[in-house]
Amino acid sequence: MKLLILNGPNINLLGVREPDIYGKGTYEELIRLIRTHAEETGLNVVFYQSNHEGALVDAIQNAFLEDKVDGIVFNPAAYTHTSVALLDAVKAVPIPVVEVHISDVDAREDFRKVNFIRKAAVATISGRGFQGYLDAMDFLKDYIGGEK
Ligand code: DQA
Repeated sequence: MKLLILNGPNINLLGVREPDIYGKGTYEELIRLIRTHAEETGLNVVFYQSNHEGALVDAIQNAFLEDKVDGIVFNPAAYTHTSVALLDAVKAVPIPVVEVHISDVDAREDFRKVNFIRKAAVATISGRGFQGYLDAMDFLKDYIGGEK
């Protein structure tokens, strides 16, 4: 089973960016954690991070058209709250997407309560730190396993 771990803007700056909100762990540490969990659970993972909305749309389309990905763990970051294009991309591909947020978006500013991606995600995991990505992988493993 192949999962795409897709991250949006500023996630590459984890560890530096607002550590009181997102923690001190870096993006590289997050990738290592996910790789280890993938090995332990028998999942195949590929990674992509971009600060650009269109590049994220391309990544979602390519996950279906080229890479034949089974599921996507997606932290759309700030685009969560603004992007109809990313909502439409998630709706356009027949791939289950779990939305992940490191922080608890619903407990923050009002503008973060607007959420486009949630409308198309099979699940949303928010406020569990890096563990949320691992939980999303486990969720997709069960979800896709149940579909087959
Ligand atoms: C985030 C929450 C978003 O509101 C924010 O814009 C981010 C990160 C999170 O992981 O908690 O960039 O998606």
